[in-house]
Amino acid sequence: MIKILVIHGPNLNMLGSREPEVYGSDTLASIDASIAEMAKSKNVSLETFQSNLEGEIVDRIQQAAADQTQIIIINPAAFTHTSIAIRDAFLASSVPFIEVHMSNVHAREDFRKHSYLSDIASGVISGFGKNSYLLAFEAAVNQCNQSNS
Ligand code: DQA
Repeated sequence: MIKILVIHGPNLNMLGSREPEVYGSDTLASIDASIAEMAKSKNVSLETFQSNLEGEIVDRIQQAAADQTQIIIINPAAFTHTSIAIRDAFLASSVPFIEVHMSNVHAREDFRKHSYLSDIASGVISGFGKNSYLLAFEAAVNQCNQSNS
């Protein structure tokens, strides 16, 4: 069975009330529920994890390398633009990952245009709100099926 981990970075626990003009009105719980529904329909094992703390995200990526997670979908949120530690965790774990953003980071402030992760990601999906996660999930399952065949 394919095993996928979804990691949500800082402030994403505030979705629904956080800058709705940028991130829409979906709550994190409703996003996780939609991903879980998709996982069920595709018979994929899913775990979701949210943290506001960089070190906890590093720990979870390290753990994924040990627990047979096949691919990680991560919205690193603000850590996208700052975190060498999360980049190094992915390089150390060698678990493939897809980078996700709800907003189109390239249409926003200049500091959001740089990511410490994009060049080592399998791919990046940005700008489709909640659907960014669902598109990433679809891509993640395809990638696992390809590497398992
Ligand atoms: C975000 C974009 C980041 O620049 C920002 O810091 C976030 C959310 C997004 O999903 O659009 O917290 O990753």
